[in-house]
Amino acid sequence: MNDVESPIDLRNLKDALEWQETANVKRPWRKDFFDYYVDLIRPRSSDQCQILELGSGPGFLTQHLLSQLPNIEYTAFDFSAVMHQLAQEKLHASEKTRATYVVGSFKDAHWQNTLSQKYDFIIIHQALHELRHKRYAIEFHKTIRSLLKPNGCYLVCDHLCAPHAMQNDQLYMNKQEHLQALQQAAFKQIKIPLEIQGLCLFEMNVI
Ligand SMILES: C[S@@+](CC[C@H](N)C(=O)[O-])C[C@H]1O[C@@H](n2cnc3c(N)ncnc32)[C@H](O)[C@@H]1O
Repeated sequence: MNDVESPIDLRNLKDALEWQETANVKRPWRKDFFDYYVDLIRPRSSDQCQILELGSGPGFLTQHLLSQLPNIEYTAFDFSAVMHQLAQEKLHASEKTRATYVVGSFKDAHWQNTLSQKYDFIIIHQALHELRHKRYAIEFHKTIRSLLKPNGCYLVCDHLCAPHAMQNDQLYMNKQEHLQALQQAAFKQIKIPLEIQGLCLFEMNVI
């Protein structure tokens, strides 16, 4: 089974800029997911709250959360230094002090070792498919467990493989496959709080 090759290279400025310009226009409902994250995190963010976003891209979610949740500390992990640069440009000075940028690939062995702490929330939004094949999902989810604090919460939002959504069944998973991969990584009590136009959010609280 080969990996599914990406038609774009988001480490390249031209491709990163094009993704930045089109993502929210193509899917304006992305903001509904971002708002959901804010509402979920807010009650737990009065104290210090550590958030990790994997495949953080040009920083739309980084900006959204840092601007609305003044106590959070945010780590953005992405293999594209160019994406991190675009993300930093979106932040005010006070937000920049609460953001850390890590360049790394979650396809590398032991990628998690580049992160030096555990997190209250780990979010991967429209980036799980960047594993480039669904067979990597279980191991990926297992790694996430090791990065979560004891009461941590894992949020996975990605395109579904479904007639009304994505068609590549090697890259994208249907809802059942997502649930199975999460269960096989020992996540329990999996919620699906939001699904819009084939974009589906899975929420797992570690107990
Ligand atoms: C589709 S974009 C989503 C960006 C952001 N999460 C959002 O929704 O606004 C996917 C992101 O994953 C990053 N990415 C792709 N492959 C990666 C890898 N192997 N390791 C880390 N990041 C990766 C890309 O650079 C890109 O920023």
